[in-house]
Amino acid sequence: MTGKRLILMGPPGGGKGTQAKVLEDAYGIVQLSTGDMLRAAVAAGTDLGKQAKTIMDAGNLVSDEIVIGMISERLDEADCANGFILDGFPRTVAQAEGLDLMLKDKGIVLDSVVEIRVPDQKLVDRITGRFTCSKCGEGYHDTFKLPKTADTCDACGNTEFTRRADDNAETVKSRLKTYHEQTSPLLPFYESRGLLAVVDGDQEMGAVTIEIKRVLDS
Ligand code: AP5
Repeated sequence: MTGKRLILMGPPGGGKGTQAKVLEDAYGIVQLSTGDMLRAAVAAGTDLGKQAKTIMDAGNLVSDEIVIGMISERLDEADCANGFILDGFPRTVAQAEGLDLMLKDKGIVLDSVVEIRVPDQKLVDRITGRFTCSKCGEGYHDTFKLPKTADTCDACGNTEFTRRADDNAETVKSRLKTYHEQTSPLLPFYESRGLLAVVDGDQEMGAVTIEIKRVLDS
């Protein structure tokens, strides 16, 4: 059950982060989210964060060199030795090629590329309703996943929550356009290598998890 190395692909709001958190615990592997790494740089006010903020707020992609470098460094850390989930990377052909080279160089073999497929019209509601515990990062939704006790995080009891700056209807449209133009073309690339499995993401969260686990355990 352990030792999986996978890419989770899918549109903005498709459920990559939600599923990655579950898979981390189920398989003892780590989630490597380029979005989370970039948001941490924005929050820390680093030079990279300042550059990235404007790009992210517009729903565009940060430069390939930056994200390839971030992932390459992160894969060298000890907690990746047992396996990892790439969430939000690669997103362009150049990133996929960069990933190929770095995996070869590090002697790592991918087990699977899982596409979580969700129709576009469902994604705006998912994204605009999303909020997160400001302390532990547990994710919630105004309709699909409210805390069990109002305004209190189920995981850590904190009472403060945040919403992402890019989670508004306008930016979502631009993020979706970017996804279809630059990221979906990677799906046939992984399919031709026999690595791609498509999972129906337009169903209840637990059902999506079951489908992903079926792929990983087969
Ligand atoms: P990133 O953080 O990667 O955002 P994204 O790909 O747009 O994906 P999201 O985090 O919005 O969605 P998700 O699929 O994780 O969905 P979630 O599980 O939260 O990237 C942000 C920005 O950073 C990019 O636009 C870009 O600028 C930059 N960036 C990042 N990586 C980059 C890269 N490699 N290269 C260049 N730039 C990069 O679910 C969404 C909501 O729906 C939640 O509220 C959840 O509770 C709910 N939900 C989840 N599953 C279900 C379900 N089955 N049913 C009902 N509700 C559900």
